Amino acid sequence: MLTKHKIVFLGDQGVGKTSLITRFMYNTFDTHYAATIGIDFLSKTMYLDDQTIRLQLWDTAGQERFRSLIPSYIRDSMVAMIVYDITSKGSFDDIPRWCDYVRTERGDDVIMVLVGNKSDLPGRVVSTEEGEKLAKELNFNLFMETSSKNGYGVKNLFKKVAKLLPTVQ
Ligand code: GTP
Ligand code: MG
Repeated sequence: MLTKHKIVFLGDQGVGKTSLITRFMYNTFDTHYAATIGIDFLSKTMYLDDQTIRLQLWDTAGQERFRSLIPSYIRDSMVAMIVYDITSKGSFDDIPRWCDYVRTERGDDVIMVLVGNKSDLPGRVVSTEEGEKLAKELNFNLFMETSSKNGYGVKNLFKKVAKLLPTVQ
């Protein structure tokens, strides 16, 4: 049976949403920053035990000027993946705001995932414990740290997300 699941990626500009998706989809990484304009869509089939899952990934733009596009994609998505950069306190401090955005559109009927990206970088300003604590406070279903650059945690992140999906055992 083929089931489709929509995942929306949210978070401040430059935290690595597109890079995370690119690592998962193609297992590549680009150091060059190309800001997402509007919304990008990608889809990927995952095989999990005997199930085939079709993930529809909605990659939003962190730039303020595209903010008005986002709510309708949140409304449509079963999973909200909120990303921050572990070397950017500002991106971490904005997490409650992103969380409110999602709750406003979907209430509790959503799987919330918090991702601390860029774990390969030496200039960490947000500890793993702080990430875990915030995820608990804001009722996220899952918290993970990742690096789109070296791939750390990325496969595991998507596998864990897939296992949280309602029709997947
Ligand atoms: P917007 O589309 O503007 O919202 O940004 P984004 O969240 O999609 O960020 P993007 O994936 O474009 O990455 C921004 C910059 O950070 C790029 O230069 C990436 O190469 C870099 N980057 C992303 N992920 C990582 C990571 O895990 N480690 C390191 N070192 N750099 C990263
Ligand atoms: Mg992007």
